[in-house]
Amino acid sequence: MKNRELQAAWKYHEGTKQSYWSVRSSTHFLDWANRPQPFKIYPAIETIALPRDLLQTGVAALAAISERVPLTGGDAVPDLRELARILFFSAGITRQRKYPGGEIYFRAAACTGALYEIELYVVAGELKGLDSGVYHFNPANMSLGLLRKGDFRGNLALATAMEHAVAHAPATIACTGTYWRNAWKYAARTYRHFGWDNGTVLANMLAVAAASGLPAEIVLGFVDAEPNRLLDLDTQREVSLCLVPIGRVSERSLPPPAKAPALGLETIPFSKREMEFPAMLEMHDASSLASEEEAAQWREKRPVVPPPASAGEAVCLQPLSKEEQPADTIEEVILRRGSTRTFDPAASITLAQLSNILDRATRGLPADFLAPGAQLNDIYLIAHSVHGLAPGAYYFQRERKTLELLKHGKFRGEAGRLGLEQQLPADACVDVFFLADLKRILEEYGNRGYRAVQLEAGAIGGRMYLAAYAQHLGASGLTFFDDEVIEFFSPHAEGKSAIFLLAIGKALKRKAL
Ligand SMILES: Cc1cc2nc3c(=O)[nH]c(=O)nc-3n(C[C@H](O)[C@H](O)[C@H](O)COP(=O)(O)O)c2cc1C
Repeated sequence: MKNRELQAAWKYHEGTKQSYWSVRSSTHFLDWANRPQPFKIYPAIETIALPRDLLQTGVAALAAISERVPLTGGDAVPDLRELARILFFSAGITRQRKYPGGEIYFRAAACTGALYEIELYVVAGELKGLDSGVYHFNPANMSLGLLRKGDFRGNLALATAMEHAVAHAPATIACTGTYWRNAWKYAARTYRHFGWDNGTVLANMLAVAAASGLPAEIVLGFVDAEPNRLLDLDTQREVSLCLVPIGRVSERSLPPPAKAPALGLETIPFSKREMEFPAMLEMHDASSLASEEEAAQWREKRPVVPPPASAGEAVCLQPLSKEEQPADTIEEVILRRGSTRTFDPAASITLAQLSNILDRATRGLPADFLAPGAQLNDIYLIAHSVHGLAPGAYYFQRERKTLELLKHGKFRGEAGRLGLEQQLPADACVDVFFLADLKRILEEYGNRGYRAVQLEAGAIGGRMYLAAYAQHLGASGLTFFDDEVIEFFSPHAEGKSAIFLLAIGKALKRKAL
């Protein structure tokens, strides 16, 4: 079982760390003439236009990201309009902007470099408005491209060793990552970005599904080769990352697995030429599951790790009361979201706003690899300007909902340095760092734990983006100098690894000339 040969994940992780010196000595450059197209286009398949007049659910964003759909026992089956709403608010085009070399089509979820390497597919049974089939979502023209006719949900269910939600889902969305589309800029670090960028898409997807009254969860325990074959992926270039069963049918209406021969469908090349980064292919291979037994075993819930003893002085979270919570709907917030490009260094946020973000985003993801309430990532913060919280470094004690002081002080300069010497983390009101005990995670989950921890960070980070924008604040994902982050938060963080970073604050309002 390759998944248990943990040196593969360590090799990838160590090999893709960023440091002051690695950034300066890198020979990788941006070849603008070879910039990849941000869409996967099949020129010769039947397409189904998706409805664009999407009704809003009216559900408040803060509720949508944090409350689960109660299991009523009844059926919850999306129709085409609801499916379209989920796809659009997860990966649809929400804004576009011209630049000298062309046009950027911004999407519903944040993505490193706006390169949008995550693709979505739908494996559906018969739905109102949609025949059963395997489809590719094309956000460029809001359509579904038909890859296979017929009901292939049995194939996916078998690949997950009959995971309950997949086996009972009227439709499952498969998320994939296209290496080159992101590696053009980020080279081998793209495999980490797969988790982050898929994660922000998932934050939106789970929220909009919940707002639509449809249960949904993240499934990572599957035999990789099966969805790859079903989606007809060229696995040197694109691989399945996770499955998201949407809705539930109480009766086992699953058809048996059907034959899914290779299709070899034509797609338009992303670039004139693509480069391969073997470190990522190796990492993916080493974290793949080869059999249904392995998938079932992988999914077995790990015990929840008890919280560490309190480090001393702590501040309790103070979220707003229910009546005071902003009611902006999940759709309004997704349409409003866009990474803040300049934070106002003179602005501050309140402890209540920060509390809302931390509380709502960390109530636990519905995922096959997490016991209820469990979380792989630990949250550390550098507070610069939060009313009610002294400037300093903190550890978020999730179970007790407290912020434990690690060190008092003004650390704007340090935060800028940790965030790859960018201005954004120095000017934000607070920087949220995701750190993880990779040693424990890899021992428990094998190399696939590396996928899980990156994906979880992206999804929680995506929820934090939404919680910030629900409160009319700004946010931006950031990249970082791996080891310096750990040094900064040590001794508390000793032995952990840096996974993800999000800055939160208020956008600088430009003065009219
Ligand atoms: C995980 C992650 C890391 C990011 N890192 C940086 C960064 O280091 N610097 C930066 O300016 N923007 C960063 N961004 C912001 C992206 O550039 C931004 O999401 C992308 O351009 C799409 O724009 P939008 O978020 O406004 O939709 C990051 C975004 C994510 C999701």
